[in-house]
Amino acid sequence: MSAIRSVARGTGSYLPERVLTNADLAQRIDTSDEWIVQRTGIRQRHIAAEGEFTSHLAVKAAERALAASGCTAADIDLIVLATATPDQTFPATSVVVQAELGITRGAAFDVQAVCSGFVFALATADAYLKTGAFQRALVIGAETFSRILDWEDRGTCVLFGDGAGAMVIEAAPAEAAGTSGLLTSHLRSDGRHRAKLFVDGGPSSTQTVGHLRMEGREVFKHAVGMITDVIEDAFAATGETAASIDWFVPHQANRRIIDASAQKLGIAPEKVVTTVDIHGNTSAASIPLAFDLAVRDGRIKTGQLVLLEAMGGGFTWGSALLRW
Ligand code: UT7
Repeated sequence: MSAIRSVARGTGSYLPERVLTNADLAQRIDTSDEWIVQRTGIRQRHIAAEGEFTSHLAVKAAERALAASGCTAADIDLIVLATATPDQTFPATSVVVQAELGITRGAAFDVQAVCSGFVFALATADAYLKTGAFQRALVIGAETFSRILDWEDRGTCVLFGDGAGAMVIEAAPAEAAGTSGLLTSHLRSDGRHRAKLFVDGGPSSTQTVGHLRMEGREVFKHAVGMITDVIEDAFAATGETAASIDWFVPHQANRRIIDASAQKLGIAPEKVVTTVDIHGNTSAASIPLAFDLAVRDGRIKTGQLVLLEAMGGGFTWGSALLRW
């Protein structure tokens, strides 16, 4: 057992100003508010302005997380940023954020696990803090999925939105951390499913950015089983249960997937933090956006046990359990 635990210090998030409603979409493509709400629970999503990049959203979320955690940028020596929509093919968007925040020490890199990105980034940062290599990390999920959508494809363009969320985590001696901090994380992937949710472009294959393509029904079919399996792993590793968690902050892809997962696990509906109605699916940003909202509105309180879970393209999926 490591003598170091990663303790969460604060969260922050940012949403672009422009809101795109289901009614707005229904004016452009053959869809309806009724279909979108019934099948997904989504009512609106935020869309980045022209010239507003993933890094811009990430910097704003990071600044808010720093302020909430009582840290300054100078305290940060590691940035792990999860995104599938980087500003550029390279450099990593995390180094743009690093420079914008004025951080000149430590390391910054991106993690690519699509919608599971935040859980993967959190687990990665946690592993580095536990080795003693770094002291304080900014873990960020930031996306501008609006830039990779095919706005003529009603099966996908109604689902996604833009945004960013961030969390500051700090290495603490286990005795000092007490019961708080990241207790366990479980990461999975299975590339045999990669053609069910992908972007049909890339630097090496087409030299284009490409558009998101998804066999929605196929993804849906696997989602609940994968999500619940990896949460059972978190429960088995810690002895915690659906009854002992205070909050469930799942990836926000579809209201029906969230509800079915919670029901299968026996998690009470009032413990579920849901933002899919107001944010849509913001991929790697969805968990830290929802987490930050629930911290700021007073739902998530110090000492409470919070369960995170995500599943997305690859497929990748994962869970994390932390005491706030
Ligand atoms: O975050 C990464 C993980 N991603 C997910 O978890 C997404 C998982 N998948 C889903 O959430 C759902 O599969 C969707 C919301 C994408 C689709 O819901 P569905 O109940 O699986 O619908 P479907 O794809 O089977 O389509 C049903 C019908 C089709 O018409 P026909 O073939 O039955 O006549 C579609 O053409 O709904 C039609 N349809 C639409 N109708 C109105 C598809 N998109 C739309 C739309 N508006 N936007």
